[in-house]
Amino acid sequence: MISEHKKLISNGWIYRKDKEESGVVVNLPHTNQEVPYNYFDEKMYQFISCYEKEFVIEGDEDRHFLYFEGVMTSCKLSIDGMFIGEYKGGYIPHSIEVTDFVEKGKVHKVLVEVDSTERLDVPPFGYVIDYLTFGGIYRDVWYYHVSQTFIKNLFFKYEVMTCDGATGSVKCMPTIQLDNRDVEKEVTLSLRVCQEEKKFQLRVRPGVHNYVLDHFLLDHVTLWNMEQPFLYDCQLVLNGERSHDTANVQIGFREIRIEANKMMLNGKDITLIGLNRHQSYPYVGYAMPKRVQERDAMILKHELGVNVVRTSHYPQSVDFLNQCDQVGLLVLEEIPGWQHVSSRQDWREQVLRDVKGMIERDYNHPSIVTWGVRINESQDDTELYHATNTLARELDDTRPTSGVRCSERSEFLEDIYTMNDFIHDGSDNILRTRERCTGLTEEVPYMVTEFCGHTFPTKKFDQEERIVEHALRHGRILSLARQKEEILGAIGWCAFDYYTHYDFGSGDRICYHGVMDMFRIPKFAAAVYKSQREKSQGYVMEPLTYWTRGERDRGVVFPIHIFTNCDAVELKLGGVSKGKFTKQFFNTDSKMQYLKHPPLVIEMNNGEWGSHWTDAEFIGYDKDEVVITKKFIANPIYSDMIVEADESELRSEVFDATRIVIKAVDQVGNVLPYINESAIVEVEGDLEVIGPNHIHLIGGSSAVWVRTKVGAKKGVGTVRIIASVGYRKELDIQLK
Ligand code: GAL
Repeated sequence: MISEHKKLISNGWIYRKDKEESGVVVNLPHTNQEVPYNYFDEKMYQFISCYEKEFVIEGDEDRHFLYFEGVMTSCKLSIDGMFIGEYKGGYIPHSIEVTDFVEKGKVHKVLVEVDSTERLDVPPFGYVIDYLTFGGIYRDVWYYHVSQTFIKNLFFKYEVMTCDGATGSVKCMPTIQLDNRDVEKEVTLSLRVCQEEKKFQLRVRPGVHNYVLDHFLLDHVTLWNMEQPFLYDCQLVLNGERSHDTANVQIGFREIRIEANKMMLNGKDITLIGLNRHQSYPYVGYAMPKRVQERDAMILKHELGVNVVRTSHYPQSVDFLNQCDQVGLLVLEEIPGWQHVSSRQDWREQVLRDVKGMIERDYNHPSIVTWGVRINESQDDTELYHATNTLARELDDTRPTSGVRCSERSEFLEDIYTMNDFIHDGSDNILRTRERCTGLTEEVPYMVTEFCGHTFPTKKFDQEERIVEHALRHGRILSLARQKEEILGAIGWCAFDYYTHYDFGSGDRICYHGVMDMFRIPKFAAAVYKSQREKSQGYVMEPLTYWTRGERDRGVVFPIHIFTNCDAVELKLGGVSKGKFTKQFFNTDSKMQYLKHPPLVIEMNNGEWGSHWTDAEFIGYDKDEVVITKKFIANPIYSDMIVEADESELRSEVFDATRIVIKAVDQVGNVLPYINESAIVEVEGDLEVIGPNHIHLIGGSSAVWVRTKVGAKKGVGTVRIIASVGYRKELDIQLK
């Protein structure tokens, strides 16, 4: 839905859990049922609910549409009591023409019956699944009105012809999709991009059809890359009899070339290092607004420093993808599904609708490098995967397809053989070979799309040795993946802990597989990824220790792994230098030596049970200059509560939200991982807390999201966090 004539209609829906109930007014995105943090029955959101809204048909246009970005899992739409249709698939948008059911100037009542049960006719359902899908109209809804003939989509196809580092010349071959409810006619089109305007004449047939426009060349375009993700605005104007529309899309020009042993972005070799993302959040599941979706892309890019994210296991919010374009984070996008392939015809047809829905929605994102067209880790199904691959290639012949499997020697119908490799168990067995996984002796493009995960679940509040080992496993795999030329990249399982069914995870409905917890607060493993960034993006030095005498087994304190992009680290104990350590071979771990920045390993006898115990200070150097330091205190005492909001401004007129991170810290600002503390969150102004307002710190920290209330006005909202021992912090949030 790219037409300019659109209006967000996410505010003021009446929500009813049950048809008979009197409703409550909600703003979308909305979850049909908030859930507790853990230990709940996932059946609690699996029901049919209703959303109702009155809306006025505006504008002089002839055709009227409602556009639902995401409704979990399927919905039936009626207008003024008249049934319009049923729309399946919880992760793809539904654009629904309502022209014949509405009148200009009249107020109409829209009723959406949302079925959030695990229906057997819709993927990913049919067997077990390791994630929860939640329910409700959990993304935005739009209304748009257009003329008889309008621009339904623009697929801005191009080919980079020459590329000279940051700039290049491109051959543009756009295809437009026009929807014409009128007779056959002539229209003119004008396409504006890179300060050029191109005109086209077209004969448009009735119905929805794609039209390939004449190709043209653009010289000296700034290419999109991961460091400078340059985007261009592109505008397409349609004119003709009963045909006028303006559509806007953002595009980025880049060349992704994949060969058996290489992936190149604009001619430069890249190794993909990334993480999988689930789109779920505490309490509200999937229903988080634009700003929060965008924040995840920023966390992945800037806090974790990865260069690729896999949208396991479904198309994710456009707000998230737009932000990936903005920050230069590559994306492996996937259709919905998990291990199970149904023999039901309607289920299989839905898989193809999902492929189409995903590609048509997301064609123009420069960040997307491949379409995942196999149900995650499913068994071979020649007929289905032949069809998904063919369809994907028909819709987009510029991107390779991939298909994530966990079985060796599975049928290779895609362009990249993507494999989940969970072989590493802490021993020397780290990754399988391409030949073993593919069963093919010839070289084929090969990528590892998951590792670690369930083989080493790790809670932020686990014992230090476990969270260190969790980090080291990620480090060993990334290192070997970088060393082996046959691997195009490795994507770890996963970025954030996520909600799951009772038959997965730790029984409490959480899979503790993230390198961050569900609140996006880092575990030690996050440092492995972050420390790989260039110094120019910020110095990183994370010693993996709580610096305590008796936390590890046998009372040992060393070895300490320091994940850092510094050249050297000096350690001082009790103010006395114990040496400056550089990454000579004996100071690193040989299984991580191929990381761009291998960790330093400091091993010494200091700190044994019963000996003198002192403060420690780690000092990071860039050449001879001190660039970063980290202190640990010998006798940590709960000394403060740190409260940090991601944003200090929110939009009042829509559902907007920001996260507020709360940490209990010692005298030098280190989190106290075993604190048994809680805090009350109070809000004033047009704000409310998502989930409970009594927060228990988990592993020394936690977070809340505060959101704008329904009907919020411009002004100032205040958030007050009051810890039980009396620390009290106040933040003002401007509502714009
Ligand atoms: C994989 C699966 C993921 C997740 C992971 C946990 O098999 O694809 O969705 O369940 O295991 O390690």
